[in-house]
Amino acid sequence: MSSDPLRIGILASGSGTNLQSIIDFCEEEKIHAKVVCVVSDNADARALTRAKEHGIDAVHVAFNSKKRQQCDEKITAVFEERDVGLVVGAGYMRLLCSEFVLHWKGRLINIHPALLPSFKGVDAHGDALLYGVKISGCTTHFIDEKMDHGPIILQAAVPVFMQDSKESLAKRVLQAEHQILPRTIDLFEKKRLSIEDRVVHIKAGDDSWKHRFPTLGDVLYSEGY
Ligand code: GRF
Repeated sequence: MSSDPLRIGILASGSGTNLQSIIDFCEEEKIHAKVVCVVSDNADARALTRAKEHGIDAVHVAFNSKKRQQCDEKITAVFEERDVGLVVGAGYMRLLCSEFVLHWKGRLINIHPALLPSFKGVDAHGDALLYGVKISGCTTHFIDEKMDHGPIILQAAVPVFMQDSKESLAKRVLQAEHQILPRTIDLFEKKRLSIEDRVVHIKAGDDSWKHRFPTLGDVLYSEGY
């Protein structure tokens, strides 16, 4: 790999296990990328500590509902100073303003813990259990102006069991998140993603992660994984 690694900026509000999976894939050189900065709206986020543990810049940008645009401008400045090429929402629990979305259009992705367009929003697992679905999962997508709405990149379908609680379902789905999010970054870095209308086309390759890395039993991975 001769080119410079893709420089990633992460947005995270919580424990940062998705962040950790990205860091691990980068450090193990399974993807040609590098996390250069983690921004959180939550000063106590474990995600910030994880960043520091790996020598990655960790920045707290406080959220202020009356000054959303300024907050997001601050985030853009933090990422631009570090020459970020891809912004990844990895458990960021705030809506980004349309100026931010427009600025990073095509270089801004997110992971959501449900099979979109089902169960958008902050309580995807609770909503999935209440609805009684038997299969849930996770989705990576480009971010657009609407919440959990932009063009879908990868999905993984994960079984829901009768005895599941929100926590047990979240834990099962997270395992798949930790696979499809790094793979999504890999596809982006390899310039294999293009968007037509709202459909993401994935340029074929011969490097399926289904064959490269261990898969999870009972999980169905979408094309491109
Ligand atoms: C993940 O399930 C993510 O999809 C959702 O919030 C959770 C964050 O988990 N938006 P973590 O902080 O990556 O551990």
